[in-house]
Amino acid sequence: MSATKKTKLRSAEWFGTQDKNGFMYRSWMKNQGIPDHEFQGKPIIGICNTWSELTPCNAHFRQLADYVKRGILEAGGFPVEFPVFSNGESNLRPTAMLTRNLASMDVEESIRGNPMDAVVLLVGCDKTTPALLMGAASVDLPTIVVSGGPMLNGKLNGKNIGSGTAVWQLHEQVKAGTITMHEFMHAESGHSRSAGTCNTMGTASTMACMAEALGTSLPHNAAIPAVDSRRYILAHMSGIRIVEMVHEDLRLSKVLKRENFENAIRVNAAIGGSTNAVIHLKAIAGRIGVDLELEDWTRVGRGMPTIVDLMPSGRFLMEEFYYAGGLPGAIRRMGDGKLLPHPEALTVNGKTLWENCQDAPVYDDEVIRPLDKPLLEDGGICILRGNLAPRGAVLKPSAATPALMQHRGRAVVFEDFDHYKARIIDPDLEVDANSVLVMKNCGPKGYPGMAEVGNMGLPPKLLAQGVRDMVRISDARMSGTAYGTVVLHVAPEAMAGGPLGIVRDGDWITLDCAGGALNLEISDAAMAERLAERAARQPATAKSGYQQLYIDHVLQADEGCDFDFLVGNRGSEVPKHSH
Ligand code: FES
Ligand code: MG
Repeated sequence: MSATKKTKLRSAEWFGTQDKNGFMYRSWMKNQGIPDHEFQGKPIIGICNTWSELTPCNAHFRQLADYVKRGILEAGGFPVEFPVFSNGESNLRPTAMLTRNLASMDVEESIRGNPMDAVVLLVGCDKTTPALLMGAASVDLPTIVVSGGPMLNGKLNGKNIGSGTAVWQLHEQVKAGTITMHEFMHAESGHSRSAGTCNTMGTASTMACMAEALGTSLPHNAAIPAVDSRRYILAHMSGIRIVEMVHEDLRLSKVLKRENFENAIRVNAAIGGSTNAVIHLKAIAGRIGVDLELEDWTRVGRGMPTIVDLMPSGRFLMEEFYYAGGLPGAIRRMGDGKLLPHPEALTVNGKTLWENCQDAPVYDDEVIRPLDKPLLEDGGICILRGNLAPRGAVLKPSAATPALMQHRGRAVVFEDFDHYKARIIDPDLEVDANSVLVMKNCGPKGYPGMAEVGNMGLPPKLLAQGVRDMVRISDARMSGTAYGTVVLHVAPEAMAGGPLGIVRDGDWITLDCAGGALNLEISDAAMAERLAERAARQPATAKSGYQQLYIDHVLQADEGCDFDFLVGNRGSEVPKHSH
């Protein structure tokens, strides 16, 4: 307790005075049955909970919070759990991305305005991880991430199926006529059969790996299955650790350095992670004051083999990843091969990333492959630029068809997602396997919210002919569970005046992943002429006040899709008294 006494606590600004204000702050809290001694200098630890029955991936989080509390109490802290907006990927329409920034604002204001000395972030489903890290980074208290963990393997007809990925595959099989609708519907309950996040290397698993690679969680946080008792032990240990972090004043900004982001970018290549990480890492970096550029993904990420063999790029699921050694095992392989850029980067347990991983065993070379037997030689996210994407676009090589990564084809253009849905099923649509599907107006402002519609399903008539992949280009995102030769995040988006908006049916497009180029084959003069004569499309109609705020202030994909006014670390200064 002597350490407790010495540490100057932020929460003492609420609970530490013998006056009218101290009376008010303490008295109302005491209505929860809290004895007076709890207010005598114990670190107050916020537990920021994204529990919601509408976010099924995070529906077990009250139990998770209980284990975090045990650790906090054991270490001499006092836990206070609070709810924030919960972004559920599976239910929220038009897209959970629309409200990532809203949740981050909720998190930032909840932390700064309340009596807490540190915060534990309970995250799981895709957007909850970046939203909470963004909000917490803008306040910069000692912060630790506890993820909810992945679901058990999906099961169908005695085989493993991956959440999300199986939906895309089975739906294509229905359209191609190789399975019946009855078989499709039968898959539902085996697809998601336990608590937790998608068990593929989708965006949730990717962001859990990013949180661990960034150093913001304890080792193994990313992969322990949601229902494995060791997930609860990790939650308990995180509760102990966050109290120690208060005494060490180990704030988020002391952990989240540029080096940590570079490690995360390289780890994303090693795990075959989601393209969504490009947007989320940029947004988190912007909040903590680290300047991350799209080119960092080329400079740091390219050349790193994908060694984690998980769907959608590979064969296995998160359960197997944990049993094979988890992220520490994969990072050990990277470090042994001198492919971890910054082994000395600090993590929340006070040790470096390499200290945490250097002795980590790998139990299964099929799941975490040796560096000389990778799933893909170069798994780094491919950053593309050219006259079609002056501010960049991305493609995930591990999800793409190698033969299509250098491609020249004629555009088949969809003005927006509705136009795509209506036109793709037209049996007279002029399209062949060589065509390039181009969709406009699905970006941050255009959709609005930049939905995961970039992996456009192929024309049914081509599916029936056995075509399984085509080059697709849009200003949308795609689910981390999806696959294909899909160019995403084209910036600027069509709605913001980007050249994607002037592509016409029949235009020739060249994609050159090795050269990082995406071009429309027209002259500069023709491009300028088309841009000048382009009829201004009506801005997307905002359906709510928040949507209007979003459309007016969202930054483009290359800038992380944060709001222009939210970028930055605004610190943890205690606000004025409320009365
Ligand atoms: Fe929540 Fe995939 S839908 S993690
Ligand atoms: Mg997703």
